[in-house]
Amino acid sequence: MHLYRQGWSFFLFLCMCGAICESFHYSVPEEKKSGSLVANVLKDLKVDVKELVNRRARLVSEGTKQYFQLDPQSGNVIVHERIDREALCDQKDLCILTAEIVLENPLQVQRIEVEIEDVNDNSPQFSKKEYHFKIPEQVPMNTRFPLETAEDSDKGDNAVQNYTLSPNGHFTLDVKSRRDGSKYAELVLQRQLDREENAQLFLILSAVDGGTPKRTGTMNIVIDVLDTNDNFPQFGDSLYKVKLRENTPRGTLVTKVEATDRDFGSFGEITYFFSQVPKNVLKAFSLNKHTGELTVAGSIDYEEERNYAINIEATDGGGLSAYCQVMVEVEDRNDNAPEVTLTSLTSPLPEDSPSDTVVALFRVTDRDSGDNGRTACTTEASLPFLLKKSVNNYYQLVTQQPLDREKDSEYNITVTATDGGSPRLTSTRIINVQISDINDNAPVFEKSTYEMQLWENNIPGLLIGLIQAKDLDTEQNSKVTYSLLPGEVSDQPASSYVSINSETGNLYAIRSVDYEQIKEFQVTVRAVDNGSPPLSSEVIVRVVIMDENDNAPFILYPLQNGTSPSNDLVPRGAEAGYLVTKVVAVDRDSGQNSWLSYELLKATEPGLFSVGAQNGEVKTMRPINKRDSLKQKLIIGVRDNGHPPQSTSATLSILLVDGFSDPYMKSVDVPKDEMVQEEDRTLTMYLVICLAVISFIFLVSAVVFVAVKIQKRRKFIASSTVNFPVGPNYPENYEDVDSGSLSRAYNYEVCLAGGSLNSEFRFLRPLFPVFSVEPSQNQGIQKMSTGSQEVPSHAAEGQLMSEARGAVSEDAAARAGGPSCAGNQAITANANIGQNDWLAYQ
Ligand SMILES: *[C@@H]1O[C@H](CO)[C@@H](O)[C@H](O)[C@H]1NC(C)=O
Repeated sequence: MHLYRQGWSFFLFLCMCGAICESFHYSVPEEKKSGSLVANVLKDLKVDVKELVNRRARLVSEGTKQYFQLDPQSGNVIVHERIDREALCDQKDLCILTAEIVLENPLQVQRIEVEIEDVNDNSPQFSKKEYHFKIPEQVPMNTRFPLETAEDSDKGDNAVQNYTLSPNGHFTLDVKSRRDGSKYAELVLQRQLDREENAQLFLILSAVDGGTPKRTGTMNIVIDVLDTNDNFPQFGDSLYKVKLRENTPRGTLVTKVEATDRDFGSFGEITYFFSQVPKNVLKAFSLNKHTGELTVAGSIDYEEERNYAINIEATDGGGLSAYCQVMVEVEDRNDNAPEVTLTSLTSPLPEDSPSDTVVALFRVTDRDSGDNGRTACTTEASLPFLLKKSVNNYYQLVTQQPLDREKDSEYNITVTATDGGSPRLTSTRIINVQISDINDNAPVFEKSTYEMQLWENNIPGLLIGLIQAKDLDTEQNSKVTYSLLPGEVSDQPASSYVSINSETGNLYAIRSVDYEQIKEFQVTVRAVDNGSPPLSSEVIVRVVIMDENDNAPFILYPLQNGTSPSNDLVPRGAEAGYLVTKVVAVDRDSGQNSWLSYELLKATEPGLFSVGAQNGEVKTMRPINKRDSLKQKLIIGVRDNGHPPQSTSATLSILLVDGFSDPYMKSVDVPKDEMVQEEDRTLTMYLVICLAVISFIFLVSAVVFVAVKIQKRRKFIASSTVNFPVGPNYPENYEDVDSGSLSRAYNYEVCLAGGSLNSEFRFLRPLFPVFSVEPSQNQGIQKMSTGSQEVPSHAAEGQLMSEARGAVSEDAAARAGGPSCAGNQAITANANIGQNDWLAYQ
């Protein structure tokens, strides 16, 4: 029923509202304590307390919460529950709670409105406790930074009325009102920010409301000052001084440069660079761009660079730079050996250079400095050179003793240079000095005299031997040429006999020689070197002619010309061993070639005669018989001992006569003896005359011969082309009496090379063989036209002598009145004499 009543009442209320609805209006502050009086409704309801109770007045709230109560005993409306305006109405400007006071009998519903008044029960509030700003340090002054507004749930004056900022050096606060009257604040920069001074600012922003008491809300403002590159890097030192030994290995730390930058991050990050450094620095050093470590990167050579000035730039990330300089002073080490530099050298040096001749000029240098570069210089003491120091580390090498190229043809002079460093360094240089030749040595023959042998009958142009001279000098000074000195060989120029090859020293025979004519000769050979002036020496060359068995034995007796065969007479009464005659033969060769032996080749009566093998004596072997014929003929062979032997034969006619008395052995009586003596004296006288005549003729012919010779020589000298009659020469002295035979008669036309040393024979050829002996050379001698060149002219001479003797003995025989056999006997003796003479000559 109650519900019904309520619903109905409410219906009434709605109905009445249109007509009589006029509500009572009250107000009460929020947050009042329960029981607090809101208003007394008695007056407004125009009822008293009794009626109020009687009519069971009560208060009906809308909604579930009963914020108010009606006290019927007093008619007071009191707060029943806590009222929070902000909770009920939020930010509405008017916050009204409604309720009805319901009276029964008669039902009366009176609407009441209670306005909830705001009380400052809320503080301003910021959405965050802390607010972060990032502001670059370089922002200009008066830049504004709007701040967040604070919220206050309270309304009106209780809402935020102002903002304040904690004291600080940089910002002020500018508070402004919006159109709606709300306030907001901005930060205004009053002083430049500096990150390096204060990287973060802490501010407190307070919002104040207008209540009483005032309530505040705060917020922390954190300002991060952002860095700008406002600081240059800075070096601790603007100049670094470093001493560095040369040859420091690569990678060695030289120094470390360091720059700082107060900026932050990349602006404070420093990189190091070389700044405009020359190439040699770049080669020698490297710089770590991050750490600033300067290290050795190349060779550090004091001799090349003593100082380095290295500019280093430090740059931060913002491109700001600072500079410093590293002065590197290189310290010397003894790393260079002295050097010997040859300035001039006299090589080859003539061996006759006098003492103190400058051979070499050189300089000793050392690239190091100080003691390391102080040098001294020495050379071997044993050499004939002396070192002379002159100014400015120049040295002269001079000769000290005479030189002899033939002893030492070159010198290797070691020059040793030492420096004063520690350890010392040394270097050596070998100066090679050649000694040049001076023609100070004459050619020297290998032998003091030469003796050579030459077989006779040699072919022209035959090599006789070799003559050698050595010259101790070199090259042209030692080039020896040979020449024959003018000289005579048997009245002929020596050059017609031999010639010498001017270069090889070979000695050649120019013509064929005849031992029987000339047994030896000597020539003088001169050796001349090619120096200037030339030196020469001479040697005597003796050429000994060797005999060949080229002459057959020649029978002197008995005469063999066949026209007047001579008979030897043998008395029939002769006993065995009777010396009949003696075969006399000669051989113009010598030695063995002239040893003759005789033998009986053929006899009319074999066994009657014998021939002495050695002496050629023909003797009877037995007494002569009656039967032995009157005429006996013997052929006797004569042979020499040569190889091969030559032989000839003689024919001997012997008459066996009766009554012939042997003059030596038998018929020796006084008158006869006196007569014979008389005869002998006469004979001797004739012989002497004969000899004198022969000698005279010989002398005359010799004189004529010499005259002709001289005449010829003049012609020869005039024309230098000469006819050499090589063959027959008339004997000119006794020794040559047995020579002069025409063994090989050739005429040579010899064109002697005038002064030429190179050719032995320019031209040498036989013209024609001559078989006849020139009369001029065989004056007074029977002209021979034998047609054979082998017939010795000597034979003619022998024949002449024999004929002369024969004439004498015939004369004597005629005067003696005896038969010619006596003459023959005498001839035998003479022949013996002749032979003896002959042999004596030999
Ligand atoms: C000098 O030196 C050269 C070259 O090394 C060498 O051929 C020569 O034999 C040396 N001479 C002497 C005299 O040592």
